[in-house]
Amino acid sequence: MARIAYVNGRYGPISAARVSVEDRGFQFADGVYEVLKLIRGRLVDADRHLARLRRSLGELRIEPPCSDAALQRVVKETITRNGLGNALIYIQVSRGTAPRNHPFPAAAKPTLVVTLRRLNLPGATELEKGTKIITLLDERWGRCDIKSTGLLPNVLAKQAAQEAGCREAWLYDAAASDDPVITEGSSTNAWIVDENGVLRTHPTGSAILGGVTRSVVLELAVAAGVKVEQRAFTLGELRRAREAFLTSATSLVLPVTTIDGHPVANGMPGETTRRLMADYAAHCGI
Ligand code: PDD
Repeated sequence: MARIAYVNGRYGPISAARVSVEDRGFQFADGVYEVLKLIRGRLVDADRHLARLRRSLGELRIEPPCSDAALQRVVKETITRNGLGNALIYIQVSRGTAPRNHPFPAAAKPTLVVTLRRLNLPGATELEKGTKIITLLDERWGRCDIKSTGLLPNVLAKQAAQEAGCREAWLYDAAASDDPVITEGSSTNAWIVDENGVLRTHPTGSAILGGVTRSVVLELAVAAGVKVEQRAFTLGELRRAREAFLTSATSLVLPVTTIDGHPVANGMPGETTRRLMADYAAHCGI
């Protein structure tokens, strides 16, 4: 079955889907996006993803292209036309098309693109043995809470991770500091169980994207009786951690067992991580 994309009111083969070269998404990365997953035909946490999309648009003063209900209908129709039961759905909205000029155009209609691709969840070995990450300087802008399509530092960090044979790069916030704070990963949120047994992740704010998976895992941790704090941890604390894991819509809860070539604790996924992996998988219907 050919992949079908939605672009500004039309459905068609993705190979023929087009936006203008004057689209501000292309010219300035003046746009936002969302990624949500479909598991066995069911959208996971759609309301939270659509709320975040609306927030990102509001922060950039981009007019929502349609109501949430209309967007849900477009997403559902794109799913039907692609015939996938397990998929990743990308919703991208730019400020629209206008002659190139930095200030907001007086009258531009936002561009809306919805595409789907097959969902590749982490494989059994990575889930059982954990994954490897590197740490790198966070070179992003000051509004990482906005899910902007301006992802160049994230792209460079992910490429560096891949070239180091790792899945992800976790980013630290100050090169000058002896013990900088870890903000998050290039496309994931970062978590540890610290040396005192407390589950920790960076608080929301402008330094990180408030992950939908992060918000669900915080609730699951509380429900499981895990002691959890939204408090940033440093690179030093990461090296001394009992457990580490990352979260995102695409990676689920994934244990991190090697950091910059060194094992986390005994090098195997810990008890809290395994509990939250199971609880999050159940939440998604996996
Ligand atoms: N990435 N931090 C960043 C910088 C991200 O890009 C993402 C998501 C997350 C996790 O958010 P969530 O749990 O809502 O997926 C954290 C998506 C999956 C992507 O860009 O592909």
